Amino acid sequence: MIKMKKHLFLIVAAVVAMVCNLNAQNMEGKKVLVAYFSATGNTAQVAQNLAQGIGADLFEIKPEQAYTKADLDWHDKQSRSSVEMADKSSRPKMANQLKDAASYDIIYLGFPIWWYTAPTIVNTFLESGDFSGKTIVLFATSGGSRLGNTKSDLQKSAPKATFIDGEIFSRNEDSARLANWAKRVVK
Ligand SMILES: Cc1cc2nc3c(=O)[nH]c(=O)nc-3n(C[C@H](O)[C@H](O)[C@H](O)COP(=O)(O)O)c2cc1C
Repeated sequence: MIKMKKHLFLIVAAVVAMVCNLNAQNMEGKKVLVAYFSATGNTAQVAQNLAQGIGADLFEIKPEQAYTKADLDWHDKQSRSSVEMADKSSRPKMANQLKDAASYDIIYLGFPIWWYTAPTIVNTFLESGDFSGKTIVLFATSGGSRLGNTKSDLQKSAPKATFIDGEIFSRNEDSARLANWAKRVVK
Protein backbone atom coordinates (compact mmCIF):
# COMPACT_ATOMS: atom_id res chain seq x y z
CA MET A 1 0.00 0.00 0.00
CA ILE A 2 2.77 2.44 1.00
CA LYS A 3 4.66 1.45 -2.14
CA MET A 4 1.59 2.21 -4.29
CA LYS A 5 1.16 5.64 -2.69
CA LYS A 6 4.82 6.35 -3.35
CA HIS A 7 4.37 5.38 -7.01
CA LEU A 8 1.30 7.56 -7.33
CA PHE A 9 3.16 10.48 -5.78
CA LEU A 10 6.05 10.03 -8.22
CA ILE A 11 3.68 9.93 -11.20
CA VAL A 12 1.87 13.11 -10.06
CA ALA A 13 5.22 14.83 -9.46
CA ALA A 14 6.42 13.83 -12.94
CA VAL A 15 3.24 15.18 -14.58
CA VAL A 16 3.50 18.47 -12.66
CA ALA A 17 7.16 18.80 -13.69
CA MET A 18 6.27 18.11 -17.34
CA VAL A 19 3.50 20.73 -17.39
CA CYS A 20 5.77 23.35 -15.77
CA ASN A 21 8.49 22.58 -18.26
CA LEU A 22 6.10 22.90 -21.20
CA ASN A 23 4.96 26.29 -19.90
CA ALA A 24 8.52 27.55 -19.80
CA GLN A 25 9.16 26.26 -23.30
CA ASN A 26 6.24 28.32 -24.66
CA MET A 27 8.62 31.28 -24.55
CA GLU A 28 12.01 29.78 -23.88
CA GLY A 29 12.02 27.35 -26.79
CA LYS A 30 11.41 30.26 -29.16
CA LYS A 31 13.65 33.03 -30.38
CA VAL A 32 12.02 36.33 -29.49
CA LEU A 33 12.61 39.88 -30.70
CA VAL A 34 11.20 43.19 -29.55
CA ALA A 35 11.26 45.64 -32.49
CA TYR A 36 10.04 49.20 -32.09
CA PHE A 37 9.79 52.64 -33.59
CA SER A 38 9.62 55.62 -31.26
CA ALA A 39 9.76 59.30 -32.14
CA THR A 40 9.68 60.82 -28.65
CA GLY A 41 10.81 57.98 -26.37
CA ASN A 42 7.57 56.60 -24.90
CA THR A 43 7.44 53.41 -26.95
CA ALA A 44 11.22 53.03 -26.61
CA GLN A 45 10.83 52.87 -22.82
CA VAL A 46 8.11 50.21 -23.02
CA ALA A 47 10.11 48.20 -25.58
CA GLN A 48 13.23 48.25 -23.40
CA ASN A 49 11.30 47.13 -20.31
CA LEU A 50 9.54 44.40 -22.28
CA ALA A 51 12.79 43.07 -23.81
CA GLN A 52 14.40 43.07 -20.39
CA GLY A 53 11.39 41.33 -18.81
CA ILE A 54 11.35 38.45 -21.29
CA GLY A 55 15.04 38.32 -22.16
CA ALA A 56 14.44 39.15 -25.84
CA ASP A 57 16.69 40.85 -28.40
CA LEU A 58 15.89 44.50 -29.08
CA PHE A 59 15.81 46.26 -32.45
CA GLU A 60 15.06 49.95 -32.95
CA ILE A 61 13.50 50.92 -36.27
CA LYS A 62 15.53 54.08 -36.97
CA PRO A 63 14.36 56.56 -39.60
CA GLU A 64 17.00 57.65 -42.11
CA GLN A 65 15.88 61.19 -41.33
CA ALA A 66 14.99 61.72 -37.67
CA TYR A 67 11.61 63.30 -36.95
CA THR A 68 11.91 66.87 -35.66
CA LYS A 69 9.34 68.55 -33.42
CA ALA A 70 7.97 70.38 -36.48
CA ASP A 71 7.73 67.05 -38.36
CA LEU A 72 5.53 65.69 -35.58
CA ASP A 73 3.08 68.62 -35.46
CA TRP A 74 -0.28 66.99 -36.16
CA HIS A 75 -2.03 70.38 -36.15
CA ASP A 76 -0.10 71.26 -39.30
CA LYS A 77 -1.51 69.51 -42.37
CA GLN A 78 1.79 70.14 -44.17
CA SER A 79 4.05 68.66 -41.50
CA ARG A 80 6.07 65.60 -42.48
CA SER A 81 4.03 63.22 -40.29
CA SER A 82 0.71 64.63 -41.56
CA VAL A 83 1.80 64.26 -45.17
CA GLU A 84 3.12 60.71 -44.63
CA MET A 85 0.07 59.56 -42.72
CA ALA A 86 -2.32 61.01 -45.31
CA ASP A 87 -0.68 58.76 -47.91
CA LYS A 88 -0.98 55.09 -46.94
CA SER A 89 1.61 54.19 -49.59
CA SER A 90 4.33 56.40 -48.07
CA ARG A 91 7.32 54.37 -46.92
CA PRO A 92 9.78 56.55 -44.95
CA LYS A 93 13.29 55.12 -45.34
CA MET A 94 15.02 53.31 -42.50
CA ALA A 95 18.62 54.01 -41.47
CA ASN A 96 19.17 50.41 -40.40
CA GLN A 97 18.12 46.89 -41.29
CA LEU A 98 17.20 43.86 -39.18
CA LYS A 99 19.77 41.30 -40.32
CA ASP A 100 18.50 37.96 -39.06
CA ALA A 101 14.71 38.26 -39.31
CA ALA A 102 14.51 34.61 -40.34
CA SER A 103 15.86 33.42 -37.00
CA TYR A 104 12.98 34.80 -34.90
CA ASP A 105 9.75 32.95 -34.07
CA ILE A 106 7.92 35.71 -32.21
CA ILE A 107 8.27 39.46 -32.74
CA TYR A 108 6.71 42.00 -30.40
CA LEU A 109 6.32 45.09 -32.58
CA GLY A 110 5.83 48.44 -30.87
CA PHE A 111 5.13 51.97 -32.13
CA PRO A 112 3.26 55.17 -31.24
CA ILE A 113 -0.29 55.50 -32.58
CA TRP A 114 -0.29 58.20 -35.26
CA TRP A 115 -3.63 59.18 -36.72
CA TYR A 116 -5.29 56.09 -35.20
CA THR A 117 -2.84 53.61 -36.74
CA ALA A 118 0.87 52.72 -36.96
CA PRO A 119 3.34 55.20 -38.51
CA THR A 120 4.07 54.13 -42.09
CA ILE A 121 7.75 53.50 -41.25
CA VAL A 122 6.45 50.37 -39.50
CA ASN A 123 5.19 49.22 -42.92
CA THR A 124 8.69 49.99 -44.27
CA PHE A 125 10.12 47.69 -41.59
CA LEU A 126 7.71 44.85 -42.38
CA GLU A 127 8.47 45.13 -46.10
CA SER A 128 12.24 45.16 -45.48
CA GLY A 129 12.48 41.45 -44.61
CA ASP A 130 10.68 38.14 -44.94
CA PHE A 131 8.29 37.70 -42.02
CA SER A 132 6.41 34.72 -43.47
CA GLY A 133 5.33 32.31 -40.75
CA LYS A 134 6.31 34.65 -37.89
CA THR A 135 4.01 35.57 -35.04
CA ILE A 136 3.92 39.35 -34.71
CA VAL A 137 2.35 40.78 -31.55
CA LEU A 138 1.47 44.46 -31.70
CA PHE A 139 1.82 46.94 -28.87
CA ALA A 140 1.75 50.70 -28.81
CA THR A 141 1.72 53.88 -26.78
CA SER A 142 -0.79 56.62 -27.51
CA GLY A 143 -2.53 59.69 -26.19
CA GLY A 144 -5.66 57.61 -25.58
CA SER A 145 -6.51 55.85 -28.87
CA ARG A 146 -6.70 52.07 -29.01
CA LEU A 147 -5.05 49.93 -31.72
CA GLY A 148 -8.05 50.35 -34.04
CA ASN A 149 -7.34 49.14 -37.57
CA THR A 150 -3.61 48.90 -37.00
CA LYS A 151 -3.55 45.13 -37.46
CA SER A 152 -5.17 45.17 -40.89
CA ASP A 153 -3.02 48.13 -41.99
CA LEU A 154 0.16 46.23 -41.06
CA GLN A 155 -0.98 42.80 -42.28
CA LYS A 156 -0.86 44.19 -45.84
CA SER A 157 2.90 44.62 -45.47
CA ALA A 158 3.54 41.06 -44.22
CA PRO A 159 0.60 38.99 -45.50
CA LYS A 160 2.13 35.65 -44.51
CA ALA A 161 2.77 36.59 -40.88
CA THR A 162 0.27 35.96 -38.09
CA PHE A 163 -0.57 39.22 -36.36
CA ILE A 164 -1.92 39.39 -32.83
CA ASP A 165 -3.58 42.53 -31.51
CA GLY A 166 -1.75 43.41 -28.34
CA GLU A 167 -2.20 46.33 -26.01
CA ILE A 168 -1.66 50.01 -25.49
CA PHE A 169 0.80 50.59 -22.66
CA SER A 170 1.82 53.64 -20.73
CA ARG A 171 5.46 54.69 -20.78
CA ASN A 172 6.07 53.55 -17.19
CA GLU A 173 4.61 50.04 -17.41
CA ASP A 174 6.95 47.78 -15.41
CA SER A 175 8.95 44.85 -16.77
CA ALA A 176 7.18 42.17 -14.72
CA ARG A 177 3.70 43.17 -15.90
CA LEU A 178 4.94 43.41 -19.49
CA ALA A 179 6.55 39.97 -19.24
CA ASN A 180 3.32 38.43 -17.89
CA TRP A 181 1.35 39.99 -20.71
CA ALA A 182 3.88 38.84 -23.32
CA LYS A 183 3.64 35.21 -22.21
CA ARG A 184 -0.16 35.25 -21.97
CA VAL A 185 -0.75 36.81 -25.36
CA VAL A 186 1.08 34.14 -27.39
CA LYS A 187 -0.49 31.10 -25.68
C1 LIG B 1 1.88 62.76 -35.68
C2 LIG B 1 1.25 62.23 -34.44
C3 LIG B 1 -0.02 61.69 -34.48
C4 LIG B 1 -0.61 61.18 -33.32
N1 LIG B 1 -1.86 60.61 -33.41
C5 LIG B 1 -2.43 60.09 -32.29
C6 LIG B 1 -3.71 59.47 -32.35
O1 LIG B 1 -4.34 59.34 -33.40
N2 LIG B 1 -4.24 59.00 -31.19
C7 LIG B 1 -3.59 59.09 -29.99
O2 LIG B 1 -4.11 58.65 -28.98
N3 LIG B 1 -2.36 59.65 -29.91
C8 LIG B 1 -1.76 60.15 -31.02
N4 LIG B 1 -0.51 60.70 -30.93
C9 LIG B 1 0.23 60.66 -29.64
C10 LIG B 1 1.26 59.53 -29.59
O3 LIG B 1 0.67 58.29 -29.95
C11 LIG B 1 1.86 59.38 -28.19
O4 LIG B 1 2.39 60.60 -27.74
C12 LIG B 1 2.93 58.29 -28.17
O5 LIG B 1 3.12 57.85 -26.83
C13 LIG B 1 4.26 58.76 -28.71
O6 LIG B 1 5.16 57.66 -28.69
P1 LIG B 1 6.74 57.81 -28.89
O7 LIG B 1 7.23 58.69 -27.77
O8 LIG B 1 7.26 56.43 -28.79
O9 LIG B 1 6.96 58.44 -30.22
C14 LIG B 1 0.10 61.21 -32.09
C15 LIG B 1 1.39 61.77 -32.05
C16 LIG B 1 1.97 62.26 -33.21
C17 LIG B 1 3.35 62.84 -33.15
